[in-house]
Amino acid sequence: MAVFNLDPFMRMQQARVEALLLERADRWASAGTPPQLAESMRYSLLAGGKRLRPVLCLAFADAVARASTDDVVVLDAACSLEYVHTYSLVHDDLPAMDNDDLRRGRPTNHKVYGEPVALLAGDALLTEAFTLLASGPEPVRGTLCAELARASGAAGMVGGQVLDIAADRAPTLDYLLRLHRLKTGALILAACRMGVQAAGGDAAALASAVTYGEAVGLAFQIADDVLDVTSSAEAMGKPVGADAEAGRFTFPAVVGLDESRRMASELVARAQAAVRPLEGEDGPLAALARYSVERKS
Ligand code: IPE
Ligand code: IPE
Ligand code: MG
Ligand code: MG
Ligand code: MG
Repeated sequence: MAVFNLDPFMRMQQARVEALLLERADRWASAGTPPQLAESMRYSLLAGGKRLRPVLCLAFADAVARASTDDVVVLDAACSLEYVHTYSLVHDDLPAMDNDDLRRGRPTNHKVYGEPVALLAGDALLTEAFTLLASGPEPVRGTLCAELARASGAAGMVGGQVLDIAADRAPTLDYLLRLHRLKTGALILAACRMGVQAAGGDAAALASAVTYGEAVGLAFQIADDVLDVTSSAEAMGKPVGADAEAGRFTFPAVVGLDESRRMASELVARAQAAVRPLEGEDGPLAALARYSVERKS
């Protein structure tokens, strides 16, 4: 069976996302954003990163439309996901949260701009995500705003971050699964759903995206926990060993490295099966599922 060649696909999609983000970030200055704030927002947003969430959104839109999608709603949806994700990283790194100094291979936002501006840059990225997503006449933008809000809010990413730092957490696998589904899984699931919705996919396509997004979202955070134990700061562009140091509740800590890897591969297989009706035996979505756990950074 031919295996879809992910490397060139990923490089092309990442370059596509970089250009889209740059074009949108360039609008901030003319919209009246104070220069220091715009600089801090751009510093974190345009610092690279794997761009997995926008790439998933674009890939689902392409799979559903069965042709390259350059619809502005799809492109705005992809970028809004990266704004929210970047804001979550800026806040996650703050001294009050994980207190990390390195992100995407450079000093964290608060190390460069100070805590007050980093906090506000995060706030602004979150808000700008919705400005972008809501600005346009297409009715589907309302649905997309609701998706993004649900995934990033109190019963999504923010709720998951609270479960992550809770002192009274239950030391069970169930708690860990819930935590991972919320803090990381929810936004990855939203990326998949939003790709389908923005491109006008049907109910069957949305159901595939849900099964896939839930599996990849969880697998991705399992891999993040594993890489925190097995990788290096140089490869990751962020500190490693930080979870154990902070006493975080992680997959390797609860079920061990081997079982973490086994569970992640099982989730990848589930995700791949879910998108067969959309792309056949092997395509970009199946390859992206593999990438979510086989990645090196
Ligand atoms: C890091 O996300 C935070 C998690 C949710 C695990 P990524 O691993 O996607 O970080 P970037 O965007 O590539 O920097
Ligand atoms: C954070 O999880 C997930 C977010 C919602 C930002 P981590 O704290 O494990 O992310 P990293 O390892 O710092 O990227
Ligand atoms: Mg954290
Ligand atoms: Mg962190
Ligand atoms: Mg981590």
